[in-house]
Amino acid sequence: MSRKRVAVLISGRGSNMAALIEAAKDKTYPAEIVLVISNRPDAGGLLVARANGIATEVVDHTAYGKDRTAFERALQVVLERYRIDIVCLAGFMRLLTPDFVRQWQHRILNIHPALLPAFKGLDTHRRALEAGVKVHGATVHFVVPEMDSGPTIAQAAVSVRHGEMEEKLAARVLDVEHQIYPLALKLLAEGRLRVENGRCLIDGSPVPDTASLIPVP
Ligand code: GRF
Repeated sequence: MSRKRVAVLISGRGSNMAALIEAAKDKTYPAEIVLVISNRPDAGGLLVARANGIATEVVDHTAYGKDRTAFERALQVVLERYRIDIVCLAGFMRLLTPDFVRQWQHRILNIHPALLPAFKGLDTHRRALEAGVKVHGATVHFVVPEMDSGPTIAQAAVSVRHGEMEEKLAARVLDVEHQIYPLALKLLAEGRLRVENGRCLIDGSPVPDTASLIPVP
């Protein structure tokens, strides 16, 4: 079976992108990262992608002012040029319009640094600490028009330590992000995901128990 062609969309350092690139170096992985697109010319992840021999493109949103549709048309042109099958958002800090999202329905994923549906939006680690939750984590989900929603594909939890600082918690969550994103992309690329009534079902052999990713405190 031919490997799915994946574009990773970033805006910053791209550590999740790097985790996907690493996973896809294995020739038996069912997807290959053929393109990294950034909306910011200075995104650090672009250098990492190039160092790994991956094509990069910049589609700078500031060139389109407030015209989101024109920005997305430009994105779409690039995605088509590279014959992309699957789009992975990885720290991509632009909201996408419902039209664009629909065009990629069930072929576009996002990673969010919280256990959705808790803590949608920004500053998830600070808000989790303020709320005093004992368990926090990360979610990979299909993208739908509503922000940080959409069927959950994979989640991993970390226990919140007493008196933990935001940076430390963020780093521990990032660690599990790097494990579940490659897992979720693999499941999608293998054609094992199905969405029914807004929930994502996984076919075939059991997937690794992501609870086992919880680092021992
Ligand atoms: C990650 O925490 C991801 O969950 C969120 O943005 C951050 C991006 O980090 N969507 P990186 O660019 O992948 O290092």
